[in-house]
Amino acid sequence: MRLINENYLELQGSYLFSEIAKRVNRFKEENPDADILRLGIGDVTRPLVPAVVEAIKKAVDDMASADTFRGYGPEQGYDFLREKIAQHDYCERGIAITADEVFVSDGAKCDTGNIQELLGTEVHIAVTDPVYPVYVDTNVMAGRSGNFDPAEGRYTNITYLGVTEENGFVPELPDERVDVIYLCYPNNPTGTVLTKAELAKWVDFAGKNNALILFDAAYEAYVTEPDIPRSIYEIEGAKEVAIEFRSFSKTAGFTGARCAYTVVPKALKGYDSDGNEHSLNAMWLRRHTTKFNGVPYYTQRGAEACYTPEGKSQIQTDIDYYLGNAKIILQGLKEAGIKAFGGVNSPYVWLKCPGQMKSWDFFDKLLKEAHVVGTPGAGFGRSGEGYFRLTGFNTKENTMKAIERLMKLK
Ligand code: MLT
Repeated sequence: MRLINENYLELQGSYLFSEIAKRVNRFKEENPDADILRLGIGDVTRPLVPAVVEAIKKAVDDMASADTFRGYGPEQGYDFLREKIAQHDYCERGIAITADEVFVSDGAKCDTGNIQELLGTEVHIAVTDPVYPVYVDTNVMAGRSGNFDPAEGRYTNITYLGVTEENGFVPELPDERVDVIYLCYPNNPTGTVLTKAELAKWVDFAGKNNALILFDAAYEAYVTEPDIPRSIYEIEGAKEVAIEFRSFSKTAGFTGARCAYTVVPKALKGYDSDGNEHSLNAMWLRRHTTKFNGVPYYTQRGAEACYTPEGKSQIQTDIDYYLGNAKIILQGLKEAGIKAFGGVNSPYVWLKCPGQMKSWDFFDKLLKEAHVVGTPGAGFGRSGEGYFRLTGFNTKENTMKAIERLMKLK
């Protein structure tokens, strides 16, 4: 019998960004001449920076010569990249992370989705609401979510931590048992942040409750304000309770090139049902080596070049460019009298749909009347209803055009 994993039947609709793409493609077919401006999925538009391109070209040349050709690399990443990551992203910022705590992969989406394989099916997970849908859906697939309750618009076995206008976008500690907490800061989708003191409360909570924090820091490079942590390991005690995910996608334009990494500190332990400790670092290594054959050599050489002085400064220019776009969006929304959040330490702006509109209604209106694509807040969870996400990842010209059109909406 071709019995299926019935947990998949609990998934709601299609993956958010596939659903958006489907609707946009349908609109495009019906309106072939429409000049559609995409401020939806967080995909970058700036090309790879010259330092990265040069490094990739050189690495391709390496592959063309028998003397320097590389076949399978280490599954967890080449030392040359793992060492640079540990040195530049952590040690130079006063955080002691070693190269063997860094696992290079082809994306933070895959890593944040796959990490739950290390956990027992009975662990109780908590997510913020709204939330990046990958965290929820992968736990649904694994059978941890319980059933979807249509009346509540939520899964029965997941704890949802509101990140809303009402609580200033600061989630409250749960008052029930949770074993695993997904936190994404700077936050996707709201673009809001936690201060060090706010994040420290979560590290403390996890320490006291033997819980695990899965910290998605894919947008850390966008932090501009002081006292906003770029890594959870800036908080004392975090190495005992947290795994951190990072990506070159939004930082260095690798959405097409594919490179990311996950830090699993050796100090972090999980427990078996007899209470014995096990190294999550060793388990993730085992999983990685079993299921993954590594990121291409030339991609890793490109990622390595992000840490050269030229690479760093070229990348910073792009980040500033996207942050400039987020500022344009924020300013335009303000002038249009639309409430908006985020966009200061993040490429994402989270707006309240005008006139009490629902998220998908606003999506359709914006697409049909302004030919602008955004992401409906409801797609990120119940608490996202009535809100909408725009990204600063398009070009400056398109961003300005999109905002002008949005401001003219009736
Ligand atoms: C987003 O738009 O939320 C992200 O680009 C999706 C992703 O990184 O997978």
